[in-house]
Amino acid sequence: MKFALYSDIHAQIPQLDAVQEAVAKENVDKEIVIGDLVMLGPDSDKVVQRLMDSPHIDVVVGNLDLWVVNKRWETHEPKSPHQAWMFEMAKKTREQMTEEQLEWLGKRPFSITYTPELGHDFKIFHATPYSIGDDDAIPLRLSDEAVKDKIKGVTADVMAFGHVHGAYVREIGDQTLVCAAAVGMSWDGDNRPAYAIVEYLGGGKWHCEAKRVDYDFETQAKYNEDSWIEHGERIASMIRTGKFWNPAHMPH
Ligand SMILES: [Fe+2]
Repeated sequence: MKFALYSDIHAQIPQLDAVQEAVAKENVDKEIVIGDLVMLGPDSDKVVQRLMDSPHIDVVVGNLDLWVVNKRWETHEPKSPHQAWMFEMAKKTREQMTEEQLEWLGKRPFSITYTPELGHDFKIFHATPYSIGDDDAIPLRLSDEAVKDKIKGVTADVMAFGHVHGAYVREIGDQTLVCAAAVGMSWDGDNRPAYAIVEYLGGGKWHCEAKRVDYDFETQAKYNEDSWIEHGERIASMIRTGKFWNPAHMPH
């Protein structure tokens, strides 16, 4: 069984087009989006509608999806000027979306497990197997021990997630971790949109690979800069450089 996974689309249509075009050529059995469809870009409504209209694609919920659905700005005080900017963006993102889109997004599951063969699970979640808070993540810089602590109790052969905006494949003991993010913008220095392939080969063997695609990033950077998003130049700089706009405050 062959899976294609991608995540953190963040309201960016041309990057989504580029990834979906590449995925269409992979001849997979199942396509999965691992959350964060909205915010950090101008077109949240269009991204959500496209996935609502694609019922063959399974979708897991992300932390920023939940911000918009649950009106985060009404229940939390911003902890920094950066968060105040994000709360305002979440509010405007919600105004752009229909009730039907918000309801659909809020009903996406926290995680999905596929079992291509009994005893060989593939578990998918947005940030960590247990939580989706702002500080929950499995970045590549963590030690093996720190990663083991985050995935403690999970028996799946393979786990796939997004959220950290830098695609990778990593072996931890006899388990494989696949970060499939990000479509919208990367923070690992490579500004090409990413997706991942996970294939079960039988007999407990898996093939896992992170891939990147090209697109016209400069046109999309300008589009973000000139869009309704306040400080669109921050988004544009991430699209151009593949790095977080403010290196002193990397989210995770
Ligand atoms: Fe996220």
